[in-house]
Amino acid sequence: MTTPIAVIILAAGKGTRMKSDLHKVLHPIAGRPMLLHLIDSLNRAGATRRVVVVGASGEQVEAAVAATGVEIAWQREQLGTAHAALQAKASLADFDGVAIVCFGDTPLLATDTVARLAARLEAPDAPTVAVLGFRPADARAYGRIVASADGTIAKMVEFKDASAEERAVDLCNSGVTAVRTRDLWRLLEAVGNDNAAGEYYLPDVVTLAIAEGGRAVAIETGEDEVAGINSRGELAAVEAGWQAARRLAAMADGATLIAPETVWFSHDTVVGRDVTIAPNVVFGPGVAIADGAVIHAFSHIEGATIGAGAEVGPYARLRPGAALGEGAKVGNFVEVKKASVGAGAKVNHLSYIGDADVGAKANIGAGTITCNYDGFFKYRTTIGAGAFVGSNSALVAPVAIGAGAIVAAGSVVTQDVPADALALVRPAQVAKPGWAARFRQQMAARKAGK
Ligand code: UD1
Ligand code: MG
Repeated sequence: MTTPIAVIILAAGKGTRMKSDLHKVLHPIAGRPMLLHLIDSLNRAGATRRVVVVGASGEQVEAAVAATGVEIAWQREQLGTAHAALQAKASLADFDGVAIVCFGDTPLLATDTVARLAARLEAPDAPTVAVLGFRPADARAYGRIVASADGTIAKMVEFKDASAEERAVDLCNSGVTAVRTRDLWRLLEAVGNDNAAGEYYLPDVVTLAIAEGGRAVAIETGEDEVAGINSRGELAAVEAGWQAARRLAAMADGATLIAPETVWFSHDTVVGRDVTIAPNVVFGPGVAIADGAVIHAFSHIEGATIGAGAEVGPYARLRPGAALGEGAKVGNFVEVKKASVGAGAKVNHLSYIGDADVGAKANIGAGTITCNYDGFFKYRTTIGAGAFVGSNSALVAPVAIGAGAIVAAGSVVTQDVPADALALVRPAQVAKPGWAARFRQQMAARKAGK
């Protein structure tokens, strides 16, 4: 479609039912504010102009979208959806094309649906308004679309204003509405508020367009895509829907999810081919997993890159800045933060590796801790390629273990260890022959009162 598209996202409502200090449209889905999901999808649909209409707590929204370059329009009083859409007029005064009005609390609107709706205006029957409808299992209080089988709309009516017969209609209004800007402002300005809510209803542009002799049409989409979020319960339901779709996509792209319903993705998780993800794995933002890696059960991973063929977990925690090389292993009860673990290196058990660089093929023994913090500053630990750090060692940063060096188990290392050296930092062992047997004898005698 060559006609330019502008989008008007309505987000001025109070979102009262969320009972939150955070603006409703900023509540996250898959770790990202719902509004940003919507803006992304609209960008992909080719929207060249984007205006978000804000009101209550609008500063929060303004700050959250600052980096996206969208325009902000203020609706100081929430007088209804038509009135809200009209607030974008000044921003779009110089725009001539198709405007898509959508709602900030309906974040999963798909790119191709937006494109389909915009394209509908270009069809030979040249409708003035195209509305996105859906048929939910439970039509609740959604506005109804009274339309014929070919989608021609006879009337749109809000639930509060609907007759029993109209309430029985199962085609509901998603709110997403396409109108050319050369018609939109005129129609919006003509909308009145003589209705049950005393509000200026966006769907009234349909009635007005028909009264002018124009056509209004509905196209349909699935319920999951346009479910609105008004409460925490609905937020969780939309999150669940998003997760379900993401799991299917990961599997379609060649990952094995052993128990898909227990894996939790972030909006930006990148999963390679032949990656295996065991049950109960949670991904925070910023994770990329290369081909063939295995994530064992109960691992929590965020801000981490995982090299090809690497293995993580079970019960591993990778925090921001963790970078595992090809074939590296991070095992059970190991935490890695701001640290690289080189190709083929192993940190298999019960360790904390923070602010560190672990060289290729190094072996970090069970219980090794990089002591990176003195209560004021953080310091780095460097472990050379092929080094071997014995179990239960404390590496007190800043400190460097040279390539190929061995640190004896139980060492507290405070000074650099040269390459290929042995560092042994613990008292020498003392063995006293027969001591234990004599001790037991004496004590037993004392207890018996002899
Ligand atoms: C609206 C539709 C209804 C549709 C439903 C789909 C109207 C009159 N009703 O009802 O037909 O079935 O969505 O979810 O359009 N907003 C403003 N300013 C206002 C009022 C609302 O910006 O003055 C914003 C809200 O922030 C929200 C969106 O518009 O993002 C929808 O408002 P909401 O009050 O949730 O409308 P519904 O009653 O759900
Ligand atoms: Mg709503």
